[in-house]
Amino acid sequence: MSKSYRVAILGATGAVGTELLELLQIRKFPLADLKLLASPRSADRIMQFGDESLPVVAVGEHSFDNVDIVLASAGGSTSKEWATIAVEAGAVVIDNSSAFRMDTHVPLVIPEVNPEAAASHRGIIANPNCTTILMAVAVWPLHRVQPVKRMVVATYQSASGAGARAMEEVKQQALAILQGETPKTEIFPYPLAFNLFTHNTKLNELGYCEEEMKMVNETRKIFGAPDLRITATCVRVPVLRAHSEAINLEFEEAFSVEKAKEILSQAPGIRIVEDWQANYFPMPCEASGKDEVLVGRIRQDISNPGGLELWLSGDQIRKGAALNAVQIAELLVAKSWVQPATAAVTA
Ligand code: A2P
Repeated sequence: MSKSYRVAILGATGAVGTELLELLQIRKFPLADLKLLASPRSADRIMQFGDESLPVVAVGEHSFDNVDIVLASAGGSTSKEWATIAVEAGAVVIDNSSAFRMDTHVPLVIPEVNPEAAASHRGIIANPNCTTILMAVAVWPLHRVQPVKRMVVATYQSASGAGARAMEEVKQQALAILQGETPKTEIFPYPLAFNLFTHNTKLNELGYCEEEMKMVNETRKIFGAPDLRITATCVRVPVLRAHSEAINLEFEEAFSVEKAKEILSQAPGIRIVEDWQANYFPMPCEASGKDEVLVGRIRQDISNPGGLELWLSGDQIRKGAALNAVQIAELLVAKSWVQPATAAVTA
């Protein structure tokens, strides 16, 4: 006898929503019911879930009645509008937006790093920022053996982080440029095709953009290390899907490359990709559609005996968003940290 759960995806038509739908199916999440919610723009759409054709419904006041788990990925303002209503209706919300991540009462969870944090949820669990997830999955196994003193990260972020329409915009820009036309910009502030620019989020008074501060603040919260020294430079690159990151780590004590590789080769959610002869290391095109974060170029920092350098590529939509959210839902089910409102029984 196994329990099954009534799930709603808020933002089902988006880049992450579509992936959530696929992951629930391929990971055989124990579903009693699945509701697809989006804006009124998508109200007449039908989406496939295996052999089933499911209608997309415009989110409304009663959308969360009889729902156990909400997987939300429709932007911060939509989450702020609906999350509390969903919790009051009895659901647990796993929220992919930044709306609640730094709320002290909301656990910020990466199942490979801090699964136990989910136990204390009060109805909302936040999924961290995509670049934070990818970095934390790679750094945590080392940090827990020997604490990191300082991290310096540079990101190479794909268009997918800005959603399905941003990916389409880059394709159209590339086509326009190849045809000798001026590329149009709607989602991004500048053309991204054949270009790159500093991450398109608001800058603070210190000159750091919101994405960079998310990496700093969220990593500290997830690691339970409020004083961890982190600095980040986030850059948007003309890659459709999967982000890459160059990470410099400084440890309390020197950490050998061999030991780091041994630890990372056994860590969950990571695959080491390194062929030094062939100069072959993680690439976004190979990380796309994969569950694992690809990690390579693990080497001594020649400027610092206590330092290591590493490079990673990870699918922003998958482990950086949808997969992490589904893993949180699986964790809640496995630990009975969510209850089905009615104990629907499947074979
Ligand atoms: P819709 O397709 O109806 O606009 P992406 O991150 O790929 O841009 O996707 C965003 C997702 O969030 C889409 O499913 C989108 O639905 C949904 N969404 C955006 N705004 C709202 C809103 N105000 N209410 C409900 N869903 C929304």
